[in-house]
Amino acid sequence: MTARLACVVGARPNFVKIGPVLRGLQEQWPGVQCSLIHTGQHYDREMSDLFFTELNLPPPDVLLKVGSGTHGQQTARILQGFEAWLLEADPRPTATIVVGDVNSTVACALAAAKLNIPIIHVEAGLRSFDRRMPEEINRVVTDTLSSLLLASEPAGVENLRREGLASDRIRLVGNVMIDVLFANLDRARRLGYPEKLGLTPGEYCIVTLHRPSNVDAPSALHRLSDTLQRLSSKIPIVFPVHPRTRARLHEAGLWNELDHAPGITLSEPLGYLEFLCLSSQAKIVITDSGGLQEETTALNIPCLTMRDRTDRPITVHEGTSTLVGHDIELLERLFNDVLHDRYKQGQCLALWDGQSGQRIAHEIGEFLKHVN
Ligand code: UD1
Repeated sequence: MTARLACVVGARPNFVKIGPVLRGLQEQWPGVQCSLIHTGQHYDREMSDLFFTELNLPPPDVLLKVGSGTHGQQTARILQGFEAWLLEADPRPTATIVVGDVNSTVACALAAAKLNIPIIHVEAGLRSFDRRMPEEINRVVTDTLSSLLLASEPAGVENLRREGLASDRIRLVGNVMIDVLFANLDRARRLGYPEKLGLTPGEYCIVTLHRPSNVDAPSALHRLSDTLQRLSSKIPIVFPVHPRTRARLHEAGLWNELDHAPGITLSEPLGYLEFLCLSSQAKIVITDSGGLQEETTALNIPCLTMRDRTDRPITVHEGTSTLVGHDIELLERLFNDVLHDRYKQGQCLALWDGQSGQRIAHEIGEFLKHVN
């Protein structure tokens, strides 16, 4: 079979998820040409290039270099840039693959849909049912426009069906990010990163927070800073700081205080391997990231999630994540439970087995037979 696929990435989590898909396609359908399009939504070395190097991704065929901006600006620039590329592409792509729920995902889906190019969505169907999250808007729009919906967990399939999307467009393929985690775990652990930071494996906490609901309001940031300083008297905390969070901490005048707090280590955003080395050996994780809820579930590491709702319910029902929202008392109580080994255990989830990239490639190939 011959076909051309435009494979879109733009932000950190996309870079992680695309690798197994590209590899699966190459192995199963060598006649399919994949063009990798990097929108440039994330552009700093630690947010972008480092992931390409560490995860052995091919260099992008196209760089749109859109950069940061408001949601409207960023989405519009991506849409415009990707549409221009699609119009000139020769041959025109048979289909476009988009992953996850970032602005690059929805913008490229829109551009492709208007040109009648079928869309394949990897990680379809996740819903937080909270339209205040920009990602929720991105997911709903992208799924509506997609011809092949590849879900990572059963809730994704249920959500898509409930929204009236045709069952024959939906496939449950498992979680492709967990493929990458298992494939890199040994390599990551050999880095000995906790030791380099003076930490003992199994005896530290990792914090990652970047959602606007947690970091944009100065009052929330002040509460957070007080809490982290209290918790760090019990166990050391490592906090790799996302650029958005860094900017907000500086604006709120909290950066120096946290940076000098005994027991807290602030760092730049980490590369994939360094972060996996740290997270896989943590005692506990506090986060607002969707991906990290999934990774901690796969690693059986307790995860306290600072969000009111999750789009990954399986990580709460069967995994190790607990939603604590903004309830600091609950956070501290569960934190103590973990330190005293009273926290729930998770379990290995079906189809989170390291083979999702292969299943995705299989489904894409079958889909393309009908498009061609
Ligand atoms: C985006 C995604 C979010 C994902 C996160 C992962 C959307 C709507 N949000 O959020 O779902 O969890 O990526 O990291 O797509 N910045 C830099 N350097 C960079 C990139 C960004 O300094 O390389 C700064 C800029 O000031 C920018 C801000 O971070 O304005 C936010 O970046 P943006 O891509 O708009 O959203 P994220 O918060 O990263």
